[in-house]
Amino acid sequence: MTKGIVLAGGVGSRLYPVTKVYSKQLVMVYDKPLIYYPISILMLSGIKDILIITDEDTIPLYKKLFHDGNHIGLNISYEIQEEPRGIAEAFIIGEDFIGDDSVFLILGDNFFYGKLDFLREAVKQNDGATIFGYHVSNPRRFGVVEFDENENVISLEEKPSDPKSNYAVPGIYVYDSNVVKYAKQLSPSKRGELEITDLSRIYMNHGKLKCIKTGRGLAWLDTGTPTALLNASSFIGAIEARQGLKIACLEEIALRNNFITIEQFSDLMKTIPECNYKEYLQNLSSDTESGFDII
Ligand code: TTP
Repeated sequence: MTKGIVLAGGVGSRLYPVTKVYSKQLVMVYDKPLIYYPISILMLSGIKDILIITDEDTIPLYKKLFHDGNHIGLNISYEIQEEPRGIAEAFIIGEDFIGDDSVFLILGDNFFYGKLDFLREAVKQNDGATIFGYHVSNPRRFGVVEFDENENVISLEEKPSDPKSNYAVPGIYVYDSNVVKYAKQLSPSKRGELEITDLSRIYMNHGKLKCIKTGRGLAWLDTGTPTALLNASSFIGAIEARQGLKIACLEEIALRNNFITIEQFSDLMKTIPECNYKEYLQNLSSDTESGFDII
């Protein structure tokens, strides 16, 4: 079984002053809070057990938003990260949650849109660690992966000044349960963080790291700055208006994935105030009755 972790702490300094008050993953991105997007990715990958890691002040807000997740067929738990000591710390904090299972980590501020079948496959087929390679114009800001001619990973570097390829590693990572043990072996980097790149490198050195190129049909957007947020909102707004379908509508995904029954969905509807979001969901349930064929 594979469990999911959303790492949703961090300083969010580039979104100051909003982040003086609350977590950046609660900022609205078009028509829903940012954290809906990474949660939707986990759900669409078939994952129901989800741990949200964030700072102490924000946990009550996430609990207000999601409770235990049961209403959307999830089992959501929460843990505190006291300081942003690095992405790899998620696996130390999540040790009990992970147990003997595999884990899919997604960063709380990462947005993806496109055909996501490759993620389900990656989760099913993972043997060690699976990361992804996404072609970007400026790889210096990211973890960068270098491939040999057989697509094997031959180097991994965090924010290199002289990148060896244009393939950045997005904030989605699948690991087996050894990840807890390996995370505990890490020492903080020069910037004082437990680096996810160092963790993946351990798997690489054991011959257990696979990196899948996502292909250019996938949108991976930033949400770390005001401009990036505005661009992400415009992107989502444009697609939702065109298709008449919502991106990352968790209630819809729960229903379509059979995480909840139509009866549970109807009960859930009673808790939502009259608004466009509810109207959308109401139209969905009649769609379900007529065959429900839009996936
Ligand atoms: P970053 O964008 O690297 O950092 P940040 O969110 O603090 O923002 P800024 O750079 O503007 O200060 O973090 C990426 C994601 O990972 C984001 O969702 C926050 C999360 N994160 C943690 O929750 N804990 C951590 O220790 C780190 C490093 C990141």
